[in-house]
Amino acid sequence: MIAIASDHGGYELRHKIMEHLTKRGLEYIDCGCDTPASCDYPDYGKAACAKVVSGECDRAIVICGTGIGISMTANKIRGIRCALCGDCFSAKATREHNDANVLALGARVLGIDLALMIVDTFLDTPFSNDQRHIRRISKIED
Ligand code: RB5
Repeated sequence: MIAIASDHGGYELRHKIMEHLTKRGLEYIDCGCDTPASCDYPDYGKAACAKVVSGECDRAIVICGTGIGISMTANKIRGIRCALCGDCFSAKATREHNDANVLALGARVLGIDLALMIVDTFLDTPFSNDQRHIRRISKIED
């Protein structure tokens, strides 16, 4: 199960991604925002990350205009490893090396096709389970 959320800056892209997930037969929980009216990205980023922390969702996708504010928000939450990705190489590497459980996207930075490729790469790449990566990840949180 995937949690997805955005502020107004990511509203359109979030809807494109939800359509894409449905076409792929993947289930998601939409954590808002509910309208394209101006709103605060931390409210929605926190809601999606809470689904991951609780175990209701395996991964989350969070979107704002740049992806920066919502990724900062996500990475303040214990248990969340959020990667802001603007390319598929990073999306693959952050799954293999960092076991990232949240993907942040900048809707005003990315074209839709690239964003969807990044989403697919993030969702389809498993963690490597290499000892060195497990060790490094264990040093992230205090
Ligand atoms: C909203 O205008 C914008 O600040 C927000 O979407 C995001 O880019 C913040 O980091």
